[in-house]
Amino acid sequence: MGIESSCDETGVGIVRGTELLAHALSSSMEQHVRFGGIVPEVASRAHLEAMVPTLEQAYAESGVRVQDVDAIAVTSGPGLTGALLVGVAAAKALALAHDKPLYGVNHLAAHVAVDQLEHGRFDERAVALLVSGGHTEILLVDDIVTGITLLGQTIDDAAGEAFDKVARLLGLPYPGGPHIDRVARDGDASTIAFPRGLTGGRDLDKHRYDFSFSGLKSAVARHVQHEDRMGRTFAVADIAASFQDSVCDVLTKKAIDACLDHDVKTLIIGGGVAANGRLRQFAEERAAKAGIQIRVPRIGLCTDNGAMVAALGAEVVRRGLPPSSLNLPADSSM
Ligand code: KG4
Ligand code: ZN
Repeated sequence: MGIESSCDETGVGIVRGTELLAHALSSSMEQHVRFGGIVPEVASRAHLEAMVPTLEQAYAESGVRVQDVDAIAVTSGPGLTGALLVGVAAAKALALAHDKPLYGVNHLAAHVAVDQLEHGRFDERAVALLVSGGHTEILLVDDIVTGITLLGQTIDDAAGEAFDKVARLLGLPYPGGPHIDRVARDGDASTIAFPRGLTGGRDLDKHRYDFSFSGLKSAVARHVQHEDRMGRTFAVADIAASFQDSVCDVLTKKAIDACLDHDVKTLIIGGGVAANGRLRQFAEERAAKAGIQIRVPRIGLCTDNGAMVAALGAEVVRRGLPPSSLNLPADSSM
């Protein structure tokens, strides 16, 4: 069983090996919308309220109760401390009460591991592109439990965060990613040449797999202000499409470069931004050209959930690694 509570989703998943048995989820997103971002205290309280009902839902879905599971895995980091603590405390309580081994696992590795529930075990090394509201990383995955290397990451905003901030500039609701995706379909991506962060210049070698989206966000802000000053109504669809192309171009180019540099034939994509239509299109085109297979789990498994924690937990158990102690801390910056 896997428990997730690092951000705004309370998730409980149950798996047997790579078979998904339960995928129960409760989200507090609606409570954050009016603030235009996740409010940590609100998220923690929502986890507290949702934890037991979500557990019950997972038991009902699978016909498996906590008494029946071999082990309990929980996201112990990274994430919001107060939010993480709810899941960690729940997992400890269940482990103690039912005498089950407890495993604290890393949320980012879980985002990668979840693909096994959809496409089977990884049989060779892979590169993973993780793109969500909180993270943007390129990982080299030799072994999902013992061999993950961080190749690069954002040096400022996460990709999803950039989508959300630009959506706000364009007057679109939070979270903005899906709205930009939607309105961009009617826009022309070649209208505005927005910058593509860390794709040139002196530091390129150092930042070969890193990302930067804050300059892009500022460029969109300047464009919108300029149009405003000129008394023009700005073309939301064209700006959205141009912005989206800039983000997705850089994400996929660097991910494919990482595959080619490391002679890797499989690219796994995960995180909420993996829902983006343009990102998928770029990735498919470029991967096909480079002879690389892409694995993207269905969108309900890309966003935060408990099944991904269970998927990684199952791999940890399979390797016979020792359980975590009942003093397992929440590690927000793991
Ligand atoms: O993985 P996730 O559900 O939560 C975490 O941040 O961990 O990702 C949420 C992020 C938000 O920033 C949201 O705007 C973005 O994913 N997102 C999208 C799309 N759907 C969700 N971004 C671009 N296009 C989408 N279709
Ligand atoms: Zn996540």
